[in-house]
Amino acid sequence: MSREATVASAPAKVNLVLLAGAEDAEGYHPLSTVFEAVSLREYVSLEPAEETTVRTIGYRPGAAGEEPLFDALLTRRLRELDGREHLALKALRAVAPRGSGARVTVHKTVPVAGGMAGGSADAAAALVAANRFFGLALTDAELLEVGAKLGADVPACISGGISLGLGRGDRMRRLEPGTRLPTSASQWWVAVEAKEGLSTPRVFQEFDRLALHGAESRGDSVPGESLDQDLIAALTRRPLDGAVLVNELEPAAFSLRPELGVTAKALRRAGASAALLSGSGPTMLGLTSGPQEAQNLSHLVTQLPWVRRATAIWGPAVGAELETALPGWTHR
Ligand code: C5P
Repeated sequence: MSREATVASAPAKVNLVLLAGAEDAEGYHPLSTVFEAVSLREYVSLEPAEETTVRTIGYRPGAAGEEPLFDALLTRRLRELDGREHLALKALRAVAPRGSGARVTVHKTVPVAGGMAGGSADAAAALVAANRFFGLALTDAELLEVGAKLGADVPACISGGISLGLGRGDRMRRLEPGTRLPTSASQWWVAVEAKEGLSTPRVFQEFDRLALHGAESRGDSVPGESLDQDLIAALTRRPLDGAVLVNELEPAAFSLRPELGVTAKALRRAGASAALLSGSGPTMLGLTSGPQEAQNLSHLVTQLPWVRRATAIWGPAVGAELETALPGWTHR
């Protein structure tokens, strides 16, 4: 069967709420979280090949509405990702028919190890692309099931919009769909990337060391089991009230990286209605009133010496979907 080059994209996510419980017998912390898919996207292309290989190419997101720019330095760093553990490769191996291969190219705009599910977005886009490329005819439910086995955030990247995740994120329910382009109801954020990454297990270890689980009660939420209905309702109301956002991993991340707390203060002082850690960090988010404020804030916080870059982003964005082609990205 002759196969045609196929492209799919999938969104990064932020966590509007992240409540964590105590470590279970397998060393995992049960979570009650609400994901919002955001406008930073990974693009994954598949081309016919005998063997499955992966190559990652770096892009810097432009300002809102602009094309991303090719980044040679980032691409060099990203080459380290191209080993066997790449989630896009795992996704392909999970669904490719026996003896079939594909040349996988990941066009990356989402920060690596930043707490925004860039790796999970790679897997989500790869699954959707592979479904078409190999003519698998997997249903949405089947794609979500395969995705959940690859990683806790993968189903949220497939579905997009706003979704509730319980347990290890494998129990997921979409609360609201996302859009392809920003609308007047979109939330605008500034995503502030740190120069130095932060490992997820390290943040959870610090969370345990500081005995943070159960530190605060959020209505009748039980981390991993349920999320308070009033809190869910507040999260889907517009404009989003910054006071309802919470990430219980934040004190642990701030303990390991005190400068992240300084970023949060700088964001609030400059007018963000809320500032919080994205996932397990180190990316920090500022909630803003619109694209202009997001752009202004991103210029301000980029001056902090530990900040790699800051980007205006919006959500909720659509989930993983086929693309007719790669966007006309600029190579410099
Ligand atoms: O999900 P991911 O594979 O990135 O997790 C890496 C590690 O982070 C896990 O092996 C575990 O030590 C820790 N973790 C956790 N609880 C979670 C997610 C991750 O303890 N909910």
